[in-house]
This record gives sequence, structure tokens and C-alpha cells, in this order.
Amino acid sequence: MIIAIDGPAGAGKSTVAKIIAKKLGFLYIDTGAMYRAITLKALENGIDIKDTQKITEAASASTIDLINNPDSSLKVLLDSRDVSLEIRQPRITQFVSDIAKIKSVREVMLKMQRKLGHQVNAVLDGRDIGTVVFPDAKKKFYIDADFKERVNRRHKELKDLDQGITVESVSLDLSNRDTIDSTRECAPLKKADDAIFIDTTNLTIEEVAEKVLGYIHG
Ligand code: DC
Repeated sequence: MIIAIDGPAGAGKSTVAKIIAKKLGFLYIDTGAMYRAITLKALENGIDIKDTQKITEAASASTIDLINNPDSSLKVLLDSRDVSLEIRQPRITQFVSDIAKIKSVREVMLKMQRKLGHQVNAVLDGRDIGTVVFPDAKKKFYIDADFKERVNRRHKELKDLDQGITVESVSLDLSNRDTIDSTRECAPLKKADDAIFIDTTNLTIEEVAEKVLGYIHG
């Protein structure tokens, strides 16, 4: 069984997806982490981010493993190396949307994501899970929140990693990524027609998780 959770950054998708996956005993697949891992590889190998062919070759030659830790955190292995922390760095966040808009890279990721999801019961979060990767997912959710609230949440999260990060820089990054992710030609961020929409602006994570579980069991 596949559960798809899509939406923009900072809406609360990944936290909710982790809670749901743990409660149901499903595998949690963070597809954004996969795009981040490929971005890290491209930057480490000195590939020009406009060189779509080289980036696609690097993606095709990569193995990405997602390991669900017992404490609900996620370990991301790129070619067997633990990159869980590196992929969250601002330099990765800065370039990931540009790499995720490359059609041929998305084709490689699509195959990897389908292979991972087909093996087990899974909760996947991303931007195109309900629309493209698993259009037949048993349950689909589109999770969103007001822009200001998303910025505040992301800022709070990132402050633990980088004390100097400002609300303005987070706001700029989110608005930039929202634009690239939702206007790209290939698999743009959008709600699937049959997805359940949840506005998380005034809800706690526990309330969102409860709502999602209610729809899954209902
Ligand atoms: O969820 P995240 O912020 O870690 O995702 C990083 C980027 O990857 C995001 O800006 C858009 C892209 N992405 C995507 O295009 N499709 C997905 N299924 C998941 C993420």
C-alpha cells in the first residue's frame, strides 16, 4: 500500500509522513532527500548545474538508500556513504530545485522511487508523488500552510543547524523554490485531483497526523 503526501517546503509533510509511517509500520521514503543527494553528488564532482547530461549520468550511476532509524530519523546513504546531514546544508538547498527540474534526472528518480515503493508498504513525501510517481496511491494528501507560517517553521528548524540564519533568507529561499517547483515543465508541484487537502497553518503536527490517520482508517 502506498500513501502519497505532497506539498511545498515547510508545510509539515516530512514530519507528518514520519509519524504516519511509524504508526502504520510502513517505510518512510523522503523523495526530496533523494534529489538532495544527487545535488550533493553533482556539486562534489564539480559538475556545472547547467550540464544536464553529466548530472543525469551521475544520477544514473548512483545508489541511494533510505534507512528508517528506530527514533524516526532518516539515514540517507549515497553510494553507501552517510550524507544525512550534508544534504540539509544551505548550499544543497540553494541548488536542489534547479536540479530537480531537469526532466532526465526526474526520470531516473522516478524509476528509483517506484522500485523502492513497490517492494513494501510505504509513505512517500514529495512534490509529484500523487500526480506522477504513484498516481494509483491508495491515499493521497496535499499538505499546505500560509507562506509566512511555512517560513517561520523552516526558520525554527534551520536555526538549530545555523544560528545566524535570518527569516529573510529563509523567506527568499522558500519563495524561490516554490516558484521553480510549481512552474517547471516536468511534474510540477500541484495537488492531485483526488488528493485530500489539509491546511496545516493553525494545526499542530499531532493534529495533522491525527487527521491524516483518520482519513487512512476511514
Ligand atoms: O522536500 P525537500 O525540501 O527536501 O525537497 C528538496 C527539493 O527537491 C524541492 O525544492 C523540490 C524537489 N523535489 C521534487 O522536485 N520532487 C519531489 N518528489 C521531491 C522533492
